[in-house]
Amino acid sequence: MRTKVAIIGAGPAGLLLGQLLHAYGIDNVILERQTPDYVLGRIRAGLLEEGTVALLDQVGAGARAHRDGLVHHGVELAFGGARHRIDMTAATGKTVTIYGQTEVTLDLMNARTAAGLTTIYQAAGVTPHDFDTDHPRVSYVKDGVGHDIACDFIAGCDGFHGVSRASVKPSAIDTFERIYPFGWLGILSETPPVSNELIYNNHARGFALCSMRSMHRSRYYVQCSLDDHVDQWPDEKFWDELKRRLDREAVDNLVTGPSIEKSIAPLRSFVAEPMRFGRMFLAGDAAHIVPPTGAKGLNLAASDVHYLSQALREYYDEKSSAGIDGYSEKALARVWKAVRFSWWMTAMLHRFPDTEGFNARIQLAELDYLVSSKAASASLSENYVGLPY
Ligand code: FAD
Ligand code: DHB
Repeated sequence: MRTKVAIIGAGPAGLLLGQLLHAYGIDNVILERQTPDYVLGRIRAGLLEEGTVALLDQVGAGARAHRDGLVHHGVELAFGGARHRIDMTAATGKTVTIYGQTEVTLDLMNARTAAGLTTIYQAAGVTPHDFDTDHPRVSYVKDGVGHDIACDFIAGCDGFHGVSRASVKPSAIDTFERIYPFGWLGILSETPPVSNELIYNNHARGFALCSMRSMHRSRYYVQCSLDDHVDQWPDEKFWDELKRRLDREAVDNLVTGPSIEKSIAPLRSFVAEPMRFGRMFLAGDAAHIVPPTGAKGLNLAASDVHYLSQALREYYDEKSSAGIDGYSEKALARVWKAVRFSWWMTAMLHRFPDTEGFNARIQLAELDYLVSSKAASASLSENYVGLPY
């Protein structure tokens, strides 16, 4: 088989890149290790920046996000027993859209099927080869039979544990990492959200986030220990812990119910530099991870593939390598700003082993400053709605 761009991974980065390239007339094949149902079953992101929604629109996959997504103009910060609203739209003129990653993925999968593009699911042993030459290829095994795809470029969109970054020789890559000493325990429930907007809670017992997927489906997270296991968190215990971390009004309004999903995610900041190795590019979680606080991961995957698709369009249409040569630097400039924002939100809102006395007071002072200063709340808003591409 031969294609122009072999994409490894059918998460949001790979699927969106595939549709953008298709729109530019650049043929591509996606190789995915899992089944479509497995990919669709992973409950993850829930908040889209305007830029991400615009990219879905650009590839004709945005209709359902506009119909079913919830447009939010503000966000709430709760600390010291009180809640404070930050009006993001007043500060930036922009909004965010609540729409689940599973739905984004489904819309992109459907668009790919409608366009008649090839996705090979349950591809085992996917391996990129010869990306430091002009003739890269990707090998894989499907139903026990080995195959090879010859291509012009490889796009590594295979997430943090993927094979693409792991195939680069260690001397060619620099990595930067911070691992946080806690995780997020999340549940999804068929209950109405506790408030119309998201509430980020700083509490002595640990961080809590009230989020949602729709007006009848809620998503809640509590900071937990890295040693915790979901089996130790029956629903009753989760709701009790959540209530302890919320303000009185939220506790009164909270509707509880059985969880339909429950999982624990570790928190990490990670960046690999560069994001290009000859004829292989990394995009999305394959190149960087942010802690979920601030909802930047999926949105960064979208901005990466926007830059990458532009660079490849320039290569094929204008016979210019300027775009692909500049991809890594351009993407990393935006990535690092989101890494900084997510790290800062995480630091301000969570209990660390040394968050006592002085550090706890500093967190509260920072939060108080944020909600009382127009400049500070504008800075948070600008980052939260998404920095420009
Ligand atoms: P992935 O979604 O990881 O997709 C990679 C794909 O590659 C997968 O389908 C995988 O099966 C496949 N793959 C891996 N290895 C191979 C291989 N060897 N061969 C073939 N295929 C392979 N982000 C936000 O923007 N907003 C949020 O609100 C938000 N909330 C989050 C909440 C939680 C609890 C978590 C865990 C994450 C959250 N994120 C959020 C982050 C977001 O989910 C990720 O950043 C996003 O999934 C990245 O997309 P991706 O396509 O780069 O990677
Ligand atoms: C969600 C996750 C986040 O990390 C965040 O900052 C906002 C919302 C969510 O899953 O709904």
